[in-house]
Amino acid sequence: MISKAKLQQLGRTHGTPLFVVDHDELRRNYREFRKYLPRVQVYFAVKANPLPEIVRTLYKEGASFDVASMPEFKIVYDNIRGMPARQRQEWIWDKIIYANPNKPVETLEELNQYKPLVTFDNAEELLKIKEHAPQAGVVLRLKVLNTGAMVELSSKFGADPGEAVDLILMADKLGLTCEGLSFHVGSQTTNFDNYVQALGLCASLFKEARDRGYTKMNLVDIGGGFPAPYDESVRPFRELAKVINQELGRLFPKDIQVLAEPGRFLVANAAYTVSKVIGKAVRDGKPSYYINDGVYHSYSGIIFDHCKYPVRAFKKGATRISAVYGPTCDALDVVSMAENLPELDRDDLVYSEKIGAYSHASSTNFNGFPPAKVVHVNV
Ligand SMILES: Cc1ncc(COP(=O)(O)O)c(C=O)c1O
Repeated sequence: MISKAKLQQLGRTHGTPLFVVDHDELRRNYREFRKYLPRVQVYFAVKANPLPEIVRTLYKEGASFDVASMPEFKIVYDNIRGMPARQRQEWIWDKIIYANPNKPVETLEELNQYKPLVTFDNAEELLKIKEHAPQAGVVLRLKVLNTGAMVELSSKFGADPGEAVDLILMADKLGLTCEGLSFHVGSQTTNFDNYVQALGLCASLFKEARDRGYTKMNLVDIGGGFPAPYDESVRPFRELAKVINQELGRLFPKDIQVLAEPGRFLVANAAYTVSKVIGKAVRDGKPSYYINDGVYHSYSGIIFDHCKYPVRAFKKGATRISAVYGPTCDALDVVSMAENLPELDRDDLVYSEKIGAYSHASSTNFNGFPPAKVVHVNV
């Protein structure tokens, strides 16, 4: 946790808008995940925050990686470039999953040389993989309940359970090995029962596949969705881990490998923003502040991630409900219509916490404003 005083000092030293990443917190999150889910191999979902320094820290901790595009693959690959070829290949097979169920042909052709594990959720994709990345191992992504998640993913991804074993057998017929099953219960899930249901479904599909003669599945990938502690309403990770451990122990023999792809959980509380008041006004009687970061930049998660990031002042004083706007000319660029803030002046700094996931990652250059400068601490 970075203190308020330190954040303010960083803002003054480096200028704003600033995006501050605390690598101690990244390590703490990774170790907490490992501690409470010891059976699970942790594949950091790079999309949540693809800064190479973050990938590097998690690499050094021993993490594995979920990538969803060739540029993400390369960010991870940069860490193993120097390994002897054979060791590198083993590392890729053991520690990278390309977990985007729909891949462009060009990507498959480039990926093929690395013989990676890739996900799929339909017959078209299988044919594409067979033609353009025949050396890949495949994992079938299932459609599962996303009820109670902040970000719902199941409308776009996942095979219907009823067609799952047909797809597994089709892969086998094509000469591709289906290594196992994966799912995603929806991001920032508050409903732990989603994992219970999804694991039950996987166990029954393992059995159906075995009954129909397919015995090569050896892994279950429980995806992401692990909730970050944004506020007190979020139940502790150890409670969710207890539920998952119980189901894993009950449903899957020890020789079934278990993977997870946490994104948000590892990075959300490891980053902060510091920005500056660049203008102020009173609109409809409400104090309104224009800051130099907004929803086209570090606060993009407000739009893309359905997330909120309270804006706080370093200054003390009696507070009033105030509006906070981003710097661009779009009226959509609203950080908040109701923040409790003291009277602020031009050049005052403000900050937000727990803004590490799906924020800087989807920052744009809209209106000519570049993404916030990044500073890494406790590297
Ligand atoms: C395939 C896949 N895995 C993992 C994640 C990471 O999810 P989360 O950040 O909820 O842990 C995502 C997020 O969209 C995803 O699409």
